[in-house]
Amino acid sequence: MILFKKKDDIQQFIAVLHKKNKKIGFVPTMGALHMGHISLIQAARKKCDLVVCSIFVNPTQFNDKKDLEKYPRTIEKDIDLLIKNDCDVLFYPDEATIYPEGTGMRKQFQLGAIESVLEGKYRPGHFQGVADVVSRLFEIIKPDEVFFGQKDLQQTRVIAHLINNTPDFKKIRMNIVSTLREPGMLAMSSRNTRLTPEQLEKAPAIYKALRFLKKHIAKGDLTSLLNAATKQLTEKGFRPEYVTIVKSETLEAVDNWDGHTPLTGLVAAFLGEVRLIDNLELTD
Ligand code: PAJ
Repeated sequence: MILFKKKDDIQQFIAVLHKKNKKIGFVPTMGALHMGHISLIQAARKKCDLVVCSIFVNPTQFNDKKDLEKYPRTIEKDIDLLIKNDCDVLFYPDEATIYPEGTGMRKQFQLGAIESVLEGKYRPGHFQGVADVVSRLFEIIKPDEVFFGQKDLQQTRVIAHLINNTPDFKKIRMNIVSTLREPGMLAMSSRNTRLTPEQLEKAPAIYKALRFLKKHIAKGDLTSLLNAATKQLTEKGFRPEYVTIVKSETLEAVDNWDGHTPLTGLVAAFLGEVRLIDNLELTD
């Protein structure tokens, strides 16, 4: 695996491969890699000639300074894992490389209504930061195929919007990879390393609440269903920010099911200081 820290170096390297018509696959991450990230690398490996992973803990997408400070950083382990899993290139830039003019004054992205609901509502500015860093990374890497996890469902919709509405990105193909889970069905996440053993035992309740929604979705009254799922989480000691059911495509909230529109359940909840998110397709 080749490691690049500088923009010019990786751009030169990739330009040569583009000239040879090689298909470039790109997996952006913030590091603290786990098998969920690796499943994206594997999906890219299957489809592309060159697999590029980036590790950059992006300050502009953190609305909570403490969350940014506490974000796990495990670069040596990450490099080992990427080498073992046949990644070709790691881009590991510093902040000045990505934000040469600083993070203060930044371009505003038009992301539509999706920006201000769910994660956008509880993490103001989060998707502006995601759109900003992902655009900067796409401009450097110029990927043909990009790989994002279903775990961050709303992020996949924001990136799809960015691709469709940016002329330079129009040819990029988006791949969404299903969520990889621990044996107890807790969605793998870099933040899980911050949970205590007791919290780790409770954490699968999020998935259980989503399964509960799926089991009862056809029975009508979504409001009482959501109230019951929320109660299950609060009783376990979670502080839910949202427990909701939306249209899978647009993420618009729904209060009843017409029997055919695909719906997804989404949860964001604090367990102690750690904020966990998960989602599940309810109607497949
Ligand atoms: P990060 O949280 O490191 O996630 C990187 C990618 O891994 C995302 O596409 C995410 O959805 C995916 N992922 C995380 N957990 C997963 C799991 N259990 N199964 C499958 N895929 C999983 O998402 C980000 O970083 C950042 O917002 C980023 C896009 C890199 C921009 O900074």
